[in-house]
Amino acid sequence: MIRLNHRHCLVTGGAGFIGSHLVDRLLANGCKVRVLDNLSNGKTANLAHHFANPNFEFSQGSITDPCDVEEATQDIQVVFHLACLGVRHSLAHPFENHRVNAEGTLLLLAAARRAKVLRFVHCSSSEVYGSAQHVPMAETHPTHPCTVYGASKLAGEAYARAYHLTYGLPTVIVRPFNTYGPRSHHEGDAGEMIPKSIVRALNGKEILVFGDGLQTRDFTFVEDTAAGLVAAAECEATTGLTLNIGCNFEISIKDLAEKLVAMVGNAAATVRFTPARPGDVSRLYADPSAFMGMCDWRPATAFEAGLEKTIAYFREHPSGPASLLQSEAGRNW
Ligand SMILES: NC(=O)c1ccc[n+]([C@@H]2O[C@H](COP(=O)([O-])OP(=O)(O)OC[C@H]3O[C@@H](n4cnc5c(N)ncnc54)[C@H](O)[C@@H]3O)[C@@H](O)[C@H]2O)c1
Repeated sequence: MIRLNHRHCLVTGGAGFIGSHLVDRLLANGCKVRVLDNLSNGKTANLAHHFANPNFEFSQGSITDPCDVEEATQDIQVVFHLACLGVRHSLAHPFENHRVNAEGTLLLLAAARRAKVLRFVHCSSSEVYGSAQHVPMAETHPTHPCTVYGASKLAGEAYARAYHLTYGLPTVIVRPFNTYGPRSHHEGDAGEMIPKSIVRALNGKEILVFGDGLQTRDFTFVEDTAAGLVAAAECEATTGLTLNIGCNFEISIKDLAEKLVAMVGNAAATVRFTPARPGDVSRLYADPSAFMGMCDWRPATAFEAGLEKTIAYFREHPSGPASLLQSEAGRNW
């Protein structure tokens, strides 16, 4: 067991949705934390509550810039690599998506090796699997990504694994399934189903379901995903392994849309079915038993409780629901 207390951690993508919750957790655990983020999708507002903390340092820079990466890895003991560009971004910008998600990962691995880090946690994604061929999906499920995003995340995994096998870098690869919660993206091409739908429902707009809505996802609350990343770093037995983080619970997008309409409670909000999105996988349903068996991790947040917290976050957002709606793009690819 590697206790992270007082360790110096680098979180790439730490101004983003999951990264900022991970930063909260690491600082609460007594770590020193440096964030490297170019703010392409991340927000300093996600970290504003830490700027006066002497254990926190923010570096605006890119994982594709060798100087930024070299500087960011100086004196670092544990790397959490979350910086990436997302799935819808990859539909319109495949090369840039590849450069950040695959090449950026390789650059960071090389710098982490030079810095002789104790742990390198590579945050991958369930999107590397593509659609479920059988369920629940264990780590042995074939990897058959449907998008350049999934393919570039898989390339990043392969580099992380190669750095472990070739150079002995103590990497662990984690594959979170879909994550939701406060600070999730409702806006632009980063916008995800749950936050987009909440913002639309709060404004009395139709929730958009792409396709027949029968596609399913296995959702984890963001604080549980962040706790999983920390558990993976602390558990030495995970070195060199690839592990799922998920809840072993699937819900269809149609059922989720109806649940969100009911929970937001705006009578004007309805559900509208629109044509399917390219690259949308039809089923994701996690088998996280290997990770649970190895690390001291269980999802602590029930789905409805997590949705309530997410709805409250958007309802009480300082910008107000009407302003949030302006950056919600509807069809966002
Ligand atoms: N959100 C999910 O449902 C989910 C599910 C599975 C895996 N993941 C993985 O979790 C990680 C975090 O995802 P997220 O949902 O928090 O996304 P996010 O977009 O909120 O976070 C990614 C962060 O990376 C930053 N970034 C992008 N390009 C960069 C670059 N070149 N240099 C430095 N920083 C850069 C962005 O500004 C952003 O803050 C990603 O690796 C993603 O693949 C997310």
